[in-house]
Amino acid sequence: MFKSKVTLAVTGASGSGYFLRLLKSLIDVDVQIYLLLSDAAKIVLKTEENEAWPEDVDELNFFLADKYQSKEKQVIALTAKDWFSPVASGSSAPDKMIICPCSCGTMASLAQGLSNNLIERSADVILKERGQLIIMPRETPFSTVHLRNMLTLSELGVTVMPLAPGFYHQPKTIADLHDFMTARVMDHLKISHNIGKRWCE
Ligand SMILES: Cc1cc2nc3c(=O)[nH]c(=O)nc-3n(C[C@H](O)[C@H](O)[C@H](O)COP(=O)(O)O)c2cc1C
Repeated sequence: MFKSKVTLAVTGASGSGYFLRLLKSLIDVDVQIYLLLSDAAKIVLKTEENEAWPEDVDELNFFLADKYQSKEKQVIALTAKDWFSPVASGSSAPDKMIICPCSCGTMASLAQGLSNNLIERSADVILKERGQLIIMPRETPFSTVHLRNMLTLSELGVTVMPLAPGFYHQPKTIADLHDFMTARVMDHLKISHNIGKRWCE
């Protein structure tokens, strides 16, 4: 029914606008999305974008379908303890996952395989099943611990894609920066799109 499916997790690092752009772009190209938000992600979303999303997951699904005019069951929001959801098991999870933005806290948990909530468990499933995991960390400066965790994850096959857009396309707006990173993620997921210009275009 959908072209493909991905797990999209949002954690409490700065950069909610990148997540909102990515979510909309995936919906627009007919991808089904299992959506996971940490408690800290909801706080950052409210702080940065002034968006207060419903706490109740059924209400959130209704809210998202209305906001993005998505198809029925295209966006499926899950709670941190939905252990019986498809993303929690290698037998049913999508083979692609993006964490945008990725907090340094979640990055540390992933590097240690903690699986203490559904975001960490979903990522752990992707790692054990040798799927595609893209994390988009944001912090500055990065500490040695952060850098070590990134190296550990990179060695495990994770794509570490910091929220660090280029400027050679001469962005005029914040939306241009969001587009830049969204286009790079879509490229890595091998999902065709028409967002922004490519190098040399
Ligand atoms: C407004 C705000 C901005 C934050 N920005 C960052 C950030 O850019 N990077 C980061 O690693 N943590 C950031 N934090 C801290 C994380 O939200 C915090 O470590 C949290 O425990 C992460 O939990 P999570 O990984 O479960 O989302 C921020 C917190 C707030 C409230």
